[in-house]
Amino acid sequence: MTGPLDAASLAPELEAHLADAEGLALSEVEGLFCLLTIPVRKELLDRMPRLRVVSNMAAGVDNVDVAACTARRIPVGNTPGVLTDATADLTMALLLSAARRLPESAQDARTGHWKTWSPTGWLGADLRGATLGIVGLGKIGRAVAERARGFGLRIVYTNTSPRPDVEAEFGAAFLSFGELLRQSDFISLHCPLTAATRGLINEAALRKMKPTAILVNAARGPVVDAAALTRALAEGRIAAAALDVTDPEPLPPEHPLYALPNCLIVPHIGSATRGTRRRMAEMACENLLAGLEGRRLPYCVNPEVYEKPVFSEKTGF
Ligand code: DGY
Repeated sequence: MTGPLDAASLAPELEAHLADAEGLALSEVEGLFCLLTIPVRKELLDRMPRLRVVSNMAAGVDNVDVAACTARRIPVGNTPGVLTDATADLTMALLLSAARRLPESAQDARTGHWKTWSPTGWLGADLRGATLGIVGLGKIGRAVAERARGFGLRIVYTNTSPRPDVEAEFGAAFLSFGELLRQSDFISLHCPLTAATRGLINEAALRKMKPTAILVNAARGPVVDAAALTRALAEGRIAAAALDVTDPEPLPPEHPLYALPNCLIVPHIGSATRGTRRRMAEMACENLLAGLEGRRLPYCVNPEVYEKPVFSEKTGF
């Protein structure tokens, strides 16, 4: 299957594909190996009563209804850790590209607009001494902080809870989300997509940012309200954005964000290095095989499925 899939059409499409290719029915499926583009929702789970494992070849599991899997005692596997460096590297590449206006200046060079060396041509932002605000200080956020220190950036962050270890190591300061938006020259998103983070960067958040601010998103597209970002960039309320992820994905070629010279968009390539993708595939296979063989998944996001069910007076279970 190629292209975007929606939860409603996935089950019938998969049913037809399985029947054609394997002569199988969804009701016979015991293991599911999926990519982050596959919405594993109740509609699909309901049609797979024999399902014993969901193995997602990604660190993020927002495409999987984990609560519904847990309720069915189906373990869900993911691939944490191995994409930290690749994603942090890409984040810095996006930040540097936007700061130094690489897409615009490369386009100008290619199209004959490079007439001479000019003292004021293609001026960008300085990194040393500027403030980087990291939203979500998990593994990837921390790896970005590590790299950013090398560029002389001052680091502030917001997170569900303070991280004294990272504060000590990188001199990072914990701020409220609003204060981070106000103080940061660069804002980099590294939070998971949840009900709380969907639309986190909305009109109100964008209005708190500096007019010189640069936004980087290598987390999940829906963390940013794309319409609000388009307005902020078009009106010059923030300086630039660099996005590895969008909402929707793929972002259609006619989307107005592509027309803005201060917006760089790449097609969700944060983990796209050969070594990283190989390791992600291996981990996802390890999870799938463990689930099919009735073993505990080595990388499991809902380990509570392995706990003994609590006896409930109400249900008798
Ligand atoms: C993940 O694994 O969640 C990443 O987004 C893949 O690049």
